[in-house]
Amino acid sequence: MPRGQTDTQDLSRLPIGMFDSGMGGLTVLHECLVRLPGEHFAYVGDTARFPYGEKGRDELELYARQITAFLETLPCKLIIVACYSATSAALPVLQEQFATPIIGVVMPGARAAVATSRYRKIGVLATAATVASGAYSRAVRSLDSGAEVVQQACPGLVDHIEAGDLASQALNDAVRGFTEPLKAQRPDVVIMGCTHYPLIAPMLRRFLGRDVTLIDPAAEIVREVEAVLARQGLERPDETMGSYRFYTTGDLDRFRSTGARFLQMPLTRVRALSLERLNELVAP
Ligand code: DGL
Repeated sequence: MPRGQTDTQDLSRLPIGMFDSGMGGLTVLHECLVRLPGEHFAYVGDTARFPYGEKGRDELELYARQITAFLETLPCKLIIVACYSATSAALPVLQEQFATPIIGVVMPGARAAVATSRYRKIGVLATAATVASGAYSRAVRSLDSGAEVVQQACPGLVDHIEAGDLASQALNDAVRGFTEPLKAQRPDVVIMGCTHYPLIAPMLRRFLGRDVTLIDPAAEIVREVEAVLARQGLERPDETMGSYRFYTTGDLDRFRSTGARFLQMPLTRVRALSLERLNELVAP
């Protein structure tokens, strides 16, 4: 259902909503704060139901609908699904069911990869849910129907990163185990198709080698957000810095401390969002 025509002056002062299974989407928020410092942001981290990457499509679709419904109550002028697993499972359904414009994170990375790949062979590192959905293959082929996509699911990798492990031997071995089969298929470009992977980009680069260009979709995602705001005349008109607030379904203190590490700045305005409230908005 499209939203009714409202005064764009009113809409432009609303926050941009974002959500993720937990902290990972903060890597996307970080890029937004660098490029769009004048915008307000409202971020939901569904930490009580983390991780999304091992869950099935129906469950992810329900969670995504619940959180989108919550963000619409704030309300928001634009919503970014800052989670690759949720985007892969639910973006078309969200866009059909909600009035607010919604941007996913898969297409921007696919666009950057297609533009970068000389040999039209694109690798994807992602969660099991994202790989199983086939979202990257569809996105890449919609841009270049002759391009080849080779994917590698990396189960368990986000748990290391979420726990603050960015350099242990166990992580090193896991990354080697995931990158070797992908590299053997000789892609010239690899997309980090998961919110957490940019935090271990140096390790990924080392294992993939200098012949592979590693794509962090975050910059491309923000470019899309900028373009949508500009075209719709929704850039916040005020000169002052924007504000940001957070909602978590999990533990507030843990969100503050882990979130500060992901965002490399203090998270002051963190509020609780109960699963009961989400279940009221969209019943399971
Ligand atoms: N945010 C998820 C994604 O980008 C990774 C973490 C999770 O599995 O929930 O796919």
